[in-house]
Amino acid sequence: MSDTVTLIDLFGGNESAPVPDPYSVYARLRRESPVTKLWGTGYEGYLVTRHADVMAALVDDELYSNKANTAGIGFVIGRTILEMDGREHTKHRQLITPYLAPRALRGDLPGRMERIAHELIDAFAREGRADLVQAFTFTFPLRVFVTILGLPVEDYEQVHRWAIDLTRVGSDPVAGMKAAHKLGKYFEPVIESRRREPTGDMVSQLVHAEIDGERLTDAEVTSFLRLLVIAGAETTYHLIGNAMTALLTHPAVLDEVRANRELLQPVMDETLRWEGPVQLVWRENVRPTTIAGYPLEAGSRLLLSIGSANRDPEVFDRPDVWDIRRDTSSMLAFGVGRHFCAGSRLAYAEARVALEALLDRLPNLRLDPAGESGIVGMAFRGPERLDVRFDPEPRRTTVAG
Ligand code: HEM
Repeated sequence: MSDTVTLIDLFGGNESAPVPDPYSVYARLRRESPVTKLWGTGYEGYLVTRHADVMAALVDDELYSNKANTAGIGFVIGRTILEMDGREHTKHRQLITPYLAPRALRGDLPGRMERIAHELIDAFAREGRADLVQAFTFTFPLRVFVTILGLPVEDYEQVHRWAIDLTRVGSDPVAGMKAAHKLGKYFEPVIESRRREPTGDMVSQLVHAEIDGERLTDAEVTSFLRLLVIAGAETTYHLIGNAMTALLTHPAVLDEVRANRELLQPVMDETLRWEGPVQLVWRENVRPTTIAGYPLEAGSRLLLSIGSANRDPEVFDRPDVWDIRRDTSSMLAFGVGRHFCAGSRLAYAEARVALEALLDRLPNLRLDPAGESGIVGMAFRGPERLDVRFDPEPRRTTVAG
């Protein structure tokens, strides 16, 4: 194991000064120091970078506990399934899975998602240029998710700002705490009204659900909602931005995908492997153990790098190349095991609708040579801007009656 380092020593940045490329550092760590001792506020622990070790820790939920999340994200959002283990985790997770299962994602949801996507594109299709992040990817998934939660759609922008502040807790704990408090206040009347009058949405389910004969408290429901808002806001938005970045930097594949939309599934899977939106997850070993030969005391905090695992050449040939023809079945972008992403189906469904709509509505789509683009970040990865050009949609002529 190498000497103790901070994440800034390693990557030369943090969430507020985004890291352009962590992968060359990960490549070195996988070779020379697969378990690296970290120091720094919120990040004390051991960074684990090889696919085999990350996978083994995710699968073994008896040895590797999620209570490691209590100190970080749990500190601002409260106690949720993300920090629970065993039976408690199973019971709580079951409350939301029906709302995110394939059956729930059929019905009128695809139509609602398409309407939201096309409304957003209507606002810029005639301009011939746009920053796709600002104009589309940032907004789309949370607008969809607030309708799934049963919240008023006009609240999505404010909710989104709080969600982003929550995820920045590592670099700005004060902003994280403030956002947690404000989201709590925002949800108070929503929870109260669903208690009086359930409407069949996810919030009503959480408010009225019983676990071992006991209702969730308001604080428990609020924490659950904070987790869902982050999960719904900060993830799929990056998948759409990363997939568009990949397509725009591989124009031949973009043409193929335009002609054959079945390729969207491998595009999404390979993008998740190549540039996963969620790069790091925490675990804690409950007993003494070793990883890659390094001894770890019980209670060591482990930062598992999914992003590094997904670029491990032991598993993926030429891992830095985005190749939609490769086998991605071992990619870990949604985690694995009992905490496997509860919203993966929704993420795929949203990203598919978004990508289809962008390809349908923006002919001759290409990167703007005078603009900005590029995927950045350490814990979450995605483009901050994605400046593009396209053939503008003709202005509709209104015929006077
Ligand atoms: C591309 C988009 C997404 C990615 C890459 C992603 C990634 C992840 C990952 C890696 C985990 C595992 C965390 C761990 O093992 O500690 C996770 C958990 C979770 N995700 Fe997602 N996620 C995405 C979208 C969503 C969406 C749209 C939702 C909607 C509600 C969601 C809800 C959740 C929840 C509730 C958990 C906690 C599951 C548990 O602890 O049992 N995710 N996600």
